Amino acid sequence: MNLKNNQINSMFEFVTSNYNILILDDSKSVNQILTKTFQDKGYNCFNVFTIKDAKEVLLNNEIHYVMLDINLPDGNGYELITLLEKSSVKIFVLTSESDKKFREKSYQKGILDFIVKDKNFFHKLDQITKTIENIEKNRNNTILVMEDSLVIQEQLKDVLENRYYKVQVASDSLRAEQILSEMPVDLILLDLVLKDGNGIDFLRRNNNLLINIKKIPVLVVSGHVNSEITRDVIKEGAVDVLTKPYVLEEIVLKVDLWTDYKRKESEIINSVKSLGLQKIIIEDQKKKLEKQIVLEKQINQQKEKLLMQQSKMATMGTMMENILHQWKQPLSAMSTNVSSVQLQKELDILDDETLNSSLSDMMMVIGHLGNTIDDFSNYLKPDREKVDFTIDDAITQSIILVNSQFRNENIKVIKNSLQVSLLGYKNDFIQSFLNMLNNSKDALMEIDKEERFIFIDMSTTSNNCVEVKIKDNAGGISDDIIDKIFESHFTTKDKFGGTGIGLFMTKEMIEKNMLGKLEVQNVNFDYEGSSYTGAQFTITLPIQ
Ligand SMILES: Nc1ncnc2c1ncn2[C@@H]1O[C@H](COP(=O)(O)OP(=O)(O)OP(=O)(O)O)[C@@H](O)[C@H]1O
Ligand SMILES: [Mg+2]
Repeated sequence: MNLKNNQINSMFEFVTSNYNILILDDSKSVNQILTKTFQDKGYNCFNVFTIKDAKEVLLNNEIHYVMLDINLPDGNGYELITLLEKSSVKIFVLTSESDKKFREKSYQKGILDFIVKDKNFFHKLDQITKTIENIEKNRNNTILVMEDSLVIQEQLKDVLENRYYKVQVASDSLRAEQILSEMPVDLILLDLVLKDGNGIDFLRRNNNLLINIKKIPVLVVSGHVNSEITRDVIKEGAVDVLTKPYVLEEIVLKVDLWTDYKRKESEIINSVKSLGLQKIIIEDQKKKLEKQIVLEKQINQQKEKLLMQQSKMATMGTMMENILHQWKQPLSAMSTNVSSVQLQKELDILDDETLNSSLSDMMMVIGHLGNTIDDFSNYLKPDREKVDFTIDDAITQSIILVNSQFRNENIKVIKNSLQVSLLGYKNDFIQSFLNMLNNSKDALMEIDKEERFIFIDMSTTSNNCVEVKIKDNAGGISDDIIDKIFESHFTTKDKFGGTGIGLFMTKEMIEKNMLGKLEVQNVNFDYEGSSYTGAQFTITLPIQ
């Protein structure tokens, strides 16, 4: 009949193992109420109505607790208290009579509680389960009994050990001080009469250590309690004063109360400490995280630079095609011119006027070729400084860069104009715009050559922004991908070498670098009597 050792596995919650509880009560309804209460807590119940049956159950089962009625059909329940006095079975007396003497006698024999079945009985049931749960925790608590009488020492030791407390006894201050220096003590029961002096002197001498440092509750016991003694011991730091001769129930209740209080206090202190520790850990992690964020930011910046470079390289390919287009015609014009001059010279019909006019024509063409190169090289220059530029200029420059190719593919660009100046990264803007022009061109290549349009519409908004809408009539972007087109590496042009960086970079440049906004939607519109559908990108940039 031994109790299993349970462990405290959370702050205030105590999980008991499956206790076996014997309920001995001749009332069927009390039996039922108790069974329900304990079963709800996960305990096993044995119900009996007579002492005879109770003994039978006790013999054949490992019983941990007994709920004991006193007046029973076949005798007095006190018989069982005596029978189980030295065993590990713990008894709660549940009776309808409250006899003071009998009560104290029962405590002397080690019962855990004496409960009167009155109108507060239901509330008291709670107390029983709480006591069962708490008593296990007592195993970790040491009580120091400072008492000169050996008889009382023994009695207190018995009662307290019966509730699983560890008990140390000292008949004098010297021994008490030794115990206190050797082990943790959770509560002191201090008799004012000690073998080597007065309990108050002991308290006074050790006040700082006991009360301030170790914070041990001291319950003073005295044969003569009057208001002066109470005042003096409380002033010296004791938490309560009890009168001798003892009422065991009072001692037990107060010891339970103060140890429980201490336990909760130290649990709170521990949780505060662990919170403090957690705070340090969190702060440490925060610092590490901040470092990581800085590092990641640097890596991202590098990545962004790389993507930007990649994107520029991709547009450069298109640019080279454009240069080729733009140079083809003037170069062939020049070659015709050179051949014609050569022929005239051979035929000896070349006069100065013709030569000069041909040369100045060629100079003009060379100038034009040079301008084209300048346009591209300006665009390719990295610009990390904000400059004033008009949105109209930047858009016109982007169109110039793709114009000859667009002309070739019969793509007409229809644009209004707007003279508004912006402070920002002009080349970034040109590149963004080129990305969108090229996307429209790619989409338009899929439709009839006769009707390929790109519309560019610039306006200012009431909240001091410039709004540029660029739309085409290539049919729009299908609904299932329209939310993804700004993601990096999203492309539907894998087969044609699309990288999927264009719109990602464009959005980054417009929104992060220029603090604007880039949005897309499909639109239906009419142009010169025909209805069209296409993707429309809207760039909004603050004028400031
Ligand atoms: N005007 C448009 N009409 C229809 N689809 C479009 C249009 N603009 C963009 N898209 C869709 O958005 C996708 C992503 O465009 P994005 O410019 O980011 O990459 P890409 O053009 O595929 O490749 P690249 O990196 O070479 O530009 C395109 O693959 C295309 O499916
Ligand atoms: Mg693209």
